[in-house]
Amino acid sequence: LVIRIVGISGSLRKRSLNTALLRAAGKLIPADVELEVVTPEGIPLYDGDLEAEKGVPHAVVMLQDKIARSDGILLATPEYNHSIPGVFKNTIDWLSRPPETISKVFGGRPVAVIGATPGGFGTALSQNAWLPVLKRLGTRTWFGGQLMVSRAQQVFDETGELTDETVRDQLEAFLGGFVSFIQSGNHQ
Ligand code: FNR
Repeated sequence: LVIRIVGISGSLRKRSLNTALLRAAGKLIPADVELEVVTPEGIPLYDGDLEAEKGVPHAVVMLQDKIARSDGILLATPEYNHSIPGVFKNTIDWLSRPPETISKVFGGRPVAVIGATPGGFGTALSQNAWLPVLKRLGTRTWFGGQLMVSRAQQVFDETGELTDETVRDQLEAFLGGFVSFIQSGNHQ
């Protein structure tokens, strides 16, 4: 049975370090696991008027369905001003609409958080900032590993390939732990 993970990068940048980290994860993940990488591209700004008039946008519904069909979510979060980038929070906010869908999309679903930054603190603060959000969404969050990639512009080459062996080993170990957590679970 194939395990399906949706990797959500919190950055729109083509050369995003966080998207690159998820792409690297897709190459290192165990053979029986599929990791599909998505970004906030195509997700509009949340607007309650838009929702009331036109409903939840198609791009959001598609992503909700993709997540609902998955076995887990891997969030790759940048850090902006010591917290979650607005563009990423906006995506999750839309995905939580309407509130009745939260249990289907997020409830009990395994989630792990990773992140990359050119800075020295490896997105520790933005990873922490996700905790109350995930608590609200009722995910089954994995705390068995940590991956905080500091000085990340030095661990990828100009094509976005992860070339740092230490980080590659850390990522591989993290993914192995998260996949075991998914396999061990009784999530919906
Ligand atoms: C940043 N950056 C940043 N980095 C960090 O480690 N801690 C921080 O608090 C911030 N704050 C911050 C605020 C804003 C508004 C921007 C635009 C950037 C730098 C950030 O980590 C860097 O731009 C990353 O490259 C963003 O991630 P992606 O796009 O490469 O995935």
